[in-house]
Amino acid sequence: MRIFFVVYFVFSLFTFTVNAQENGLFLSWKTNSTSNDSKHLLEHRVDPLDTVRIAIIGLGNRGQMALERLPKINGAKVVAISDIDSNKVDESCKRYFNDEQLSPPDLYYSADDWKNICQRDDIDLVYVCTHWELHTPIAVYAMEHDKHVAVEVPAALTIRECWQLVKTAEKTKKHCIQLENCMYDFFEISVHNMAKKGLFGELVHTEGAYIHDLRALNFSDTYYWNHWRLKRLQKTNGNTYPTHGLGPLAHILNIHRGDRMERLVSMSSNQFGLTRYAQQNLSQNQQWEGDQFLKGDMNLTLIKTHNGKTILLQHDVTSPRPYSRMFTLSGTNGFVQKYPKKALAFEPNAHRPLEENRMADSLLKYQPKPIKEIKDIAKQIGGHGGMDYIMDYRLIYCLRNGLPLDQDVYDAAEWSAIIELSKKSIDKKSKSVKIPDFTRGNWNVLNKVAYYLN
Ligand SMILES: NC(=O)c1ccc[n+]([C@@H]2O[C@H](COP(=O)([O-])OP(=O)(O)OC[C@H]3O[C@@H](n4cnc5c(N)ncnc54)[C@H](O)[C@@H]3O)[C@@H](O)[C@H]2O)c1
Repeated sequence: MRIFFVVYFVFSLFTFTVNAQENGLFLSWKTNSTSNDSKHLLEHRVDPLDTVRIAIIGLGNRGQMALERLPKINGAKVVAISDIDSNKVDESCKRYFNDEQLSPPDLYYSADDWKNICQRDDIDLVYVCTHWELHTPIAVYAMEHDKHVAVEVPAALTIRECWQLVKTAEKTKKHCIQLENCMYDFFEISVHNMAKKGLFGELVHTEGAYIHDLRALNFSDTYYWNHWRLKRLQKTNGNTYPTHGLGPLAHILNIHRGDRMERLVSMSSNQFGLTRYAQQNLSQNQQWEGDQFLKGDMNLTLIKTHNGKTILLQHDVTSPRPYSRMFTLSGTNGFVQKYPKKALAFEPNAHRPLEENRMADSLLKYQPKPIKEIKDIAKQIGGHGGMDYIMDYRLIYCLRNGLPLDQDVYDAAEWSAIIELSKKSIDKKSKSVKIPDFTRGNWNVLNKVAYYLN
């Protein structure tokens, strides 16, 4: 009998260790394969692409940063670039394709050229870096012309556009993802791995934000094309840019992989800061028509999930304050926050955060192995400290290996939907608003978010 218990104990210890190692964020695909012939696009896969031939539309700040990274990723080939500013097209070609090893891309200059690009049959992926209004129109057209799409954030501006993305992706079976890079920040991805391994216990509450003083950039005559970002603040209230805060939280909470966001309430402060900034800083000929901005400086949106978790989102791009994405998780066994000061705390001493060096050791210990393997090159090539490179690397890696992408079209729709829904709640004096189930009932077919490896 005693021998039985000893054997049982050793066996349990062994299986626990194996499970603990396997239960991280990154999983080997072979051990988790599910059927790919359903109507929904959960864990959707397509045939592996040997080389991913890419067209980049929009060569402003973001498009040029992508050109800095994509040609350096094995198996990625930029074959076409496009912008309505011919200087940006010509300069980008000169700057990013001066290496003899790289064949220069085809250059496009007119406002409708994205349609000509989508109609080509030698392009696999359309990578959209324009202002927001063109995101969904380009994505839908690209999918209808047999292309995968990766769209800068947010992928859509209205619920109607969110459904357009979902329905077109389901009909065409193409990948359609949002280029949400904050999931891949070194801090966020280690914490995500910790959460998947259960270190925080049951997660109860999370917080995310986009707090970034963009006043000077928004009023600049040269930074954003045609002041597109400022014009949104004139036109609308609510959380106009939810995905950097929400994206990492949604994956950590396994949204539409076992849980779903059901409803939200939203409240905005009045508009003070941007109006005052405009009055104090702009010359007479720079004055904006009436200086009317519908966007209240601070927006607070509270989301409740089906499984009873809460998410607090904040958005403020018009107040003088330090940058923050908040990134806070509170669970039954621990707590983490990234801003304003990183803190990690666990039971039974959670009233006191870990010392800085112990926190750094923990973050490194739980940094997923696939991230460790590329972190040096990610930091060297960069893009927000390396997270942009990791995002592109994962996109190309999954396409080349026929794996499900880390993000899917339902993520794109759910995170973007907050834009219209937060405004809708504000318009109804902060009444609760239902969040559509873009998976149409399939939100608990899977039981967790995983990023796959071959
Ligand atoms: N993920 C991130 O960290 C991050 C950071 C900044 C911006 N963004 C997103 O990236 C996108 C672009 O932002 P940005 O800062 O590069 O803006 P930007 O104004 O610098 O660039 C937009 C570009 O689109 C071009 N354009 C306009 N109409 C076009 C058309 N019909 N065809 C082709 N090009 C056209 C403009 O000439 C401009 O060069 C936005 O969606 C923004 O939200 C994401």
